[in-house]
Amino acid sequence: RNKRDTGLAPGAAAEPRALNSVAVIGAGIMGAGIAEASLKRKLAVTLTDARQDALLHGARSVMEGVSYSKQKRGPDVQRAIEFAPLLNATAADSEVAACDLIIEAVVENIDVKRDVYQRLEPQLQETAILASNTSTIPITRLAEKLVRPEQFCGIHFFNPVRKMQLVEVIRGKKTSDATIATAVAYAKRIGKMPIVVNDGPGFLVNRLLLPYLNESLELLLEGATIESIERAAKKFGMPLGPVALFDMVGIDTAMYAGRVMWEAFPDRIVASPILPALVKAGMLGQKTGSGFFSYQGKKGRAEPNPKLREIIDRYKRAPQEFTPEQLTARLFLPILLEATRILDDKIVRDVRDIDLGLIFGLGFPPFKGGLLFWADTLGAAKVVEMLKPLEHLGARTKPTARLLEMAKTGAKFYDQPAV
Ligand code: NAI
Repeated sequence: RNKRDTGLAPGAAAEPRALNSVAVIGAGIMGAGIAEASLKRKLAVTLTDARQDALLHGARSVMEGVSYSKQKRGPDVQRAIEFAPLLNATAADSEVAACDLIIEAVVENIDVKRDVYQRLEPQLQETAILASNTSTIPITRLAEKLVRPEQFCGIHFFNPVRKMQLVEVIRGKKTSDATIATAVAYAKRIGKMPIVVNDGPGFLVNRLLLPYLNESLELLLEGATIESIERAAKKFGMPLGPVALFDMVGIDTAMYAGRVMWEAFPDRIVASPILPALVKAGMLGQKTGSGFFSYQGKKGRAEPNPKLREIIDRYKRAPQEFTPEQLTARLFLPILLEATRILDDKIVRDVRDIDLGLIFGLGFPPFKGGLLFWADTLGAAKVVEMLKPLEHLGARTKPTARLLEMAKTGAKFYDQPAV
């Protein structure tokens, strides 16, 4: 389906615009990754950042990435020479504005992002496409003050960009078909797998991810150890536990993204005090060498962080014991419930997109076939039964109307036709 999929509704036709150059605004974890992925496919890339040190750091990381040689286990000079002329690291807005596609990857803050657009949009070519790599903020809200909202969409990459194949292309209320077609063509050109989704807080994949991350923080405060949480997630088949994932994402970014989700869904996302406390302590995860884990030892491997205990103890509730099965249920069932709400909200066109998103965006265990596929093997009635002991947690573990209906009729997720 994917190779031929243009991302448009059946019958709609729009030609993608020609792309010769891409600009990336924000040279942090994601900006550098997006620039590297584009450069690797020989697209000319202009990279910029508000901070010169961040720009230099980002540009260095891009060049290291594109010139990496497996044999040499390090940069290859010949490759570096080949790619160097295609990368323009600059502080000049005019050079950014001259590009065909401009991808914004600055901090997850609606005002900062809107300010960037307001400053840049008047300088862009009339045909240019502006996109945001935002992980949670609805595209329609970001587009509110744009003169050409039809030429704006979400192009959401996953971390680490080098590894994760998925790209979510997000259609805002006013996004045109030509813009979607261009974003889809760009993602394919750089070797990614695009799925087009409708707008809403967290779009598809982060809307599924947030309940999982949220639950891991709650479990920590209820007395579960980091090791037991990570072990349960990995035993289920995840490449990384939720706590290590926080460190990879960046605690500040996770906090901002979490806030957007909490504002949108306060009944089921808990505003945990742990993330702000870590941010306040400057423990931002891998990027600062310290977060839930410490990365200051040999080879930067994750090790227990002695400073964490004090932060957790500050907010800990009466400790409880958890079996591995209880941990698995707590971590994964809320994702499944969110998936049913995503179907209700028509964020995806096909139930299969939910499983594709989880497998290719989050590394969800492919041998389980995806979350909905897994749920189908259990049956909705069994899932409802598994949720019973979690009733005390409120809305976030309460079976949704869709799930209850499926339990009654025996319907499967995969029975539903694509729209
Ligand atoms: P980061 O903190 O690594 O980098 C952000 C960069 O933006 C910094 O270098 C900062 O100096 C720069 N910046 C801030 N304001 C700016 C401005 N006005 N103009 C130009 N540059 C500016 O953050 P990260 O993780 O790269 O996140 C960037 C965006 O990507 C956010 O919207 C985030 O939600 C999204 N995202 C993050 C993912 C992750 O796992 N970290 C995954 C997918 C999306």
